[in-house]
Amino acid sequence: MSVVDDIRDKLDIVEVISGYVPLRKAGRNFKARCPFHTEKTPSFTVSPERQTWRCFGACATGGDIFNFVMRKDNVEFGEALRRLAELAGVEVSTRPKEQVDLEESLFRVNQEAARFYNEMLMSPEGRAALKYLNDRGIDAKAIEEFQLGYSPKGRDRLRTHLATLDANLGHATQAGLLRSDDEGNVRDFFFGRLMVPILDRRSRVAGFGGRSLDGSNPKYINTPATPIFDKQATLYALDKAASAIREQETAVIVEGYMDVIAAHQNGRKNVVASMGTALTERQVYLVRSLTKTVVLALDADAAGQEATLRSLEASWRAMERRRFGQRQEVALRIAVLPEGSDPDDIIRESVDRWDEIVKSAVPYMDFVIPAMARRHDLSTPQGKGRAAEGLMPIILSMGNAFEQDRYFGQLADTLEVTRDQLQASIGKLRPAARERRPAGPQPGAPPSSTTVSPLASGDRDPLEEFVLKALLHWPELLDVVEDHTPEEFRRTENRELFTQLLAAGTIDELQRRLDESLAEHFTRLTESDIKPTTRQSAPRAIQDALGRLKQRHLRDRQAEILESLDIEPGAELPKDIEDSIASVNDELKEGFLVGAREKPRR
Ligand code: UTP
Ligand code: MN
Repeated sequence: MSVVDDIRDKLDIVEVISGYVPLRKAGRNFKARCPFHTEKTPSFTVSPERQTWRCFGACATGGDIFNFVMRKDNVEFGEALRRLAELAGVEVSTRPKEQVDLEESLFRVNQEAARFYNEMLMSPEGRAALKYLNDRGIDAKAIEEFQLGYSPKGRDRLRTHLATLDANLGHATQAGLLRSDDEGNVRDFFFGRLMVPILDRRSRVAGFGGRSLDGSNPKYINTPATPIFDKQATLYALDKAASAIREQETAVIVEGYMDVIAAHQNGRKNVVASMGTALTERQVYLVRSLTKTVVLALDADAAGQEATLRSLEASWRAMERRRFGQRQEVALRIAVLPEGSDPDDIIRESVDRWDEIVKSAVPYMDFVIPAMARRHDLSTPQGKGRAAEGLMPIILSMGNAFEQDRYFGQLADTLEVTRDQLQASIGKLRPAARERRPAGPQPGAPPSSTTVSPLASGDRDPLEEFVLKALLHWPELLDVVEDHTPEEFRRTENRELFTQLLAAGTIDELQRRLDESLAEHFTRLTESDIKPTTRQSAPRAIQDALGRLKQRHLRDRQAEILESLDIEPGAELPKDIEDSIASVNDELKEGFLVGAREKPRR
């Protein structure tokens, strides 16, 4: 039995959810006001029989205990799994124990260092650093919230402190707090700097940024890569910003630590920092699970730079990749800051001004088309060509046809060419190649006996696994899943794997981001055989299987609606329920139609 099943067996969804919201018995189900949106009449239903929950109101989503905790606690699958495992008393040990122990020890020594630095900041030695913070308007509350500190001068102060605590100095070195100098003496890595602890998503100290206080360079020294710290995969203050990002449905990404601190201190808590580097895909991924809108605050001077444009393109791709039928699309917007000022300055001067700047952020394309046009000499055909070359792939890969058309027109206008000319000039470019559907019988289609699988509620779900196996085998076919949502997968592991696969886009990336608890499942799926499906028959086979999953999901939803009301099929229904069933029915019909339309013509 998988850990997931083990946990599910041991926990009752009614109990788990009762820990968060008071549930009231209503027929065979339980009801509450939905914890995910504000409502007067309870439309949130928990079914003890199915061990599922669903909001029939504005959210219109549902799931099991895992999805519930992910949403409610704002955590990734792995973390939800660990929390529930703890509740269930189930051991989750997918990582070698030594590694877990090492990481815990590194976090512990970092936490102690943060505490030490903070103590130093408040001591006479830290007076100048504290004054510096005060002069910058950073108040005591922010110092505490962000656990700011000061690393004293002298190169062995932290080491000595840790030694008196009998801490493991080898681990302190591995955490990047100490390092050996040329003579082999172990020295403090940070000294004489203002210390900014960098917390991970679970609020553990993963690393530090240390700011110089005397104008010396570099301005910041950061913890190098360690087993628990990877700057590229971290957004500063994301742990503190996560719930505000969810609530406000917007994440604002700035560059610097100080910008974040100023923003939070002034009540703008949905702000995180990329820490100087161009936004990485992994950073985008981190916020993308929280919100559909990301505003990137960009320096006026950085805005025109080639490198900025390139990194923006990468960020946009990370945002855009796989919309997978998520009703809300993810939008990257750009807010350009006034020349020469950073968010920190602006916020201190006027929070209203900051709000305005964030509010006036423009969609990525509206920023990038003019920016690209500025990069090239548009008075020459070559310049126009290069600008088009840079932008057309982006436009062609857009999922929304109206949007695509709009930007196509905008680009033509900017380049001062006709649509036809633009079209002709990019004749060679193709939209993100959609699989041509092979005609004729599909020998590789999954056997139809799997439509209603007796195993579906048990340990395995062959239909879901077929889809995953095929996609893992031919990740280039990911495009065929376009209109399907992870919710159509019943089994949590499969649902999560599907979600992550769509988000990752490549197997490499998937492996990097996949929670360790799913590693075994992943391996089993990648290693198993998918005969008789062939590369040629795969697109159709995957679509067929997904179509069936969708139908099954819609039927489940219908049944849930009836159950939530305790109404026998055929009885008279309240109007709103009738509507909601009708909409499911429509979707079902559409599902069949799509299926029919795609059936090969004979
Ligand atoms: P900034 O120079 O904007 O830093 O660099 P800041 O946070 O606003 O700091 P103040 O206001 O000058 O005190 C943005 C971010 O780039 C990274 C840091 O994460 C910084 O917060 N950075 C900058 C470095 O890592 N090293 C550097 O030398 C400079
Ligand atoms: Mn600054």
